[in-house]
Amino acid sequence: MKVYDLIGIGFGPSNIALAITLQEKKQAGYNIESFFIEKQPSFAWHANMMLNNAHMQVSFLKDLATMRNPSSHFTFINYLHQKNRLQDFINLKTFFPSRHEFNDYLSWAASHFDHCCAYGEEVIEILPEKRGEETVLLRIRSRDSEQIMHERLARNLVISIGGQPRIPDSFLSLKGDPRVFHSSSYLQEIKQFPSANRIAVVGGGQSAAEIFMDLHDRFQTTQVDLIMRARSIKPSDDSPFVNEIFNADFTDFVFNSSEQDRAEILNDFWHTNYAAPDLVLIEQIFNVLYRQKVSGSERHRFLRRHEVRQALSLQEGIQFVLHDMNTHCERTETYEAVVLATGYHRDHHKSLLAPLTPYFGDFTVDRQYRLCSTPNFKPAVFLQGACESSHGLSDTLLSVTAVRTNEIAQALMNNSNQTSVMQAKRGISTAFA
Ligand SMILES: Cc1cc2nc3c(=O)[nH]c(=O)nc-3n(C[C@H](O)[C@H](O)[C@H](O)COP(=O)(O)OP(=O)(O)OC[C@H]3O[C@@H](n4cnc5c(N)ncnc54)[C@H](O)[C@@H]3O)c2cc1C
Ligand SMILES: NC(=O)c1ccc[n+]([C@@H]2O[C@H](COP(=O)([O-])OP(=O)(O)OC[C@H]3O[C@@H](n4cnc5c(N)ncnc54)[C@H](OP(=O)(O)O)[C@@H]3O)[C@@H](O)[C@H]2O)c1
Repeated sequence: MKVYDLIGIGFGPSNIALAITLQEKKQAGYNIESFFIEKQPSFAWHANMMLNNAHMQVSFLKDLATMRNPSSHFTFINYLHQKNRLQDFINLKTFFPSRHEFNDYLSWAASHFDHCCAYGEEVIEILPEKRGEETVLLRIRSRDSEQIMHERLARNLVISIGGQPRIPDSFLSLKGDPRVFHSSSYLQEIKQFPSANRIAVVGGGQSAAEIFMDLHDRFQTTQVDLIMRARSIKPSDDSPFVNEIFNADFTDFVFNSSEQDRAEILNDFWHTNYAAPDLVLIEQIFNVLYRQKVSGSERHRFLRRHEVRQALSLQEGIQFVLHDMNTHCERTETYEAVVLATGYHRDHHKSLLAPLTPYFGDFTVDRQYRLCSTPNFKPAVFLQGACESSHGLSDTLLSVTAVRTNEIAQALMNNSNQTSVMQAKRGISTAFA
């Protein structure tokens, strides 16, 4: 079996950016043979949230390459040039293209790597390949849409699988009920409810706000309840000094801070990203609710300080026991569909790596995003998008993607293990041929 220098799990922006970096390093004489495995049938960036008016929340200059190499073929500006839209884009006078356009840019970039990416395969397990007492390679097992298993061997691994839907405890028992779905499958699922009378959106972040406005525009009469625990919807703060936390060098500052300081930094700036829609979107929602007041007909409701204590699956709909956190009163409400815009968790790598847990202890990463391991574990395993607690709030976003891939590529090349693994490469290749 062929042994790759690096296998990447997921082919979203993080690993596309890494593929680009490695390709550019190859041109400079460093040859790391990489391969990527993506579970979607083709490239798509949060396809189920590709809403009509959605736009980027980060400057297009924080694309896959510019911050690392502004002269790269893969910059957003070169994409515009290739598509013959550079002048028109300039006349838009924006740093924040539509998410449709950015998705097209990402697809364009991804298409350069079709030869080294297997689409339609979900990685389900990573196993150690031992030589004596040492683990020298990793066996990556994936399953395709026809349930056929595939196995590949790698000397190093990078896991960039994004977030997985966070489902509140009160909804866990409703798993499998098609009337309750997470924002990450919104566009696919909402099609099933063309004539719903009442829909609940749970959450107060960008996803909840975008979905509320989408439902308002999509259906003429559907009543939407926007339900959140917070006292108010607060806008994301992207003012310049605050935005410095998303600078590449801020990662060093966060990483080198004490555990307590890191926690304080994350806490202080949490609302730059989480439970924090864009101000313009908040104003749109306020406008909709204000116009209802003018017309005197209440269609949608904004239920702040409300918590879903219980959700029951009934024939007539999903029944909520809603707790008003101000008055401490409870009441029931029934909905034909429920959208959980309740965010994401980012620890699925631990399940994929479960067979390797004894090597990783508490899954600490070093500055180059490499999981710290026991000395008898030779492969380097990197995490992209799962290091927020150690590297800061930019970790789950596009902000540092380009720079981070350079750090990972450097770590791969400088890795002292890499030298010995590379030296042992011929022997290992024979052993596993
Ligand atoms: C709707 C939405 C909009 C966003 N907009 C912005 C924005 O404007 N600006 C910004 O900075 N950030 C934004 N974000 C944050 C987002 O995390 C980043 O934009 C970006 O997608 C991160 O890239 P990634 O490659 O790390 O993760 P993802 O884009 O999530 O890609 C991970 C990939 O891994 C694949 N995968 C997962 N598990 C497996 C597996 N087991 N086997 C194989 N493949 C797997 C997935 O299918 C996916 O393609 C947004 C997030 C959401 C949900
Ligand atoms: N156009 C875009 O660029 C775009 C679009 C969508 C998303 N995004 C990005 O995607 C990321 C995630 O955003 P998101 O809006 O999906 O998630 P999020 O910001 O994490 O917000 C999740 C929301 O769900 C609520 N919630 C969580 N658990 C809950 C529970 N048990 N019960 C009730 N409410 C609960 C949270 O409220 P509490 O505060 O009460 O916990 C919060 O309001 C962000 O980085 C965001 O910027 C970008």
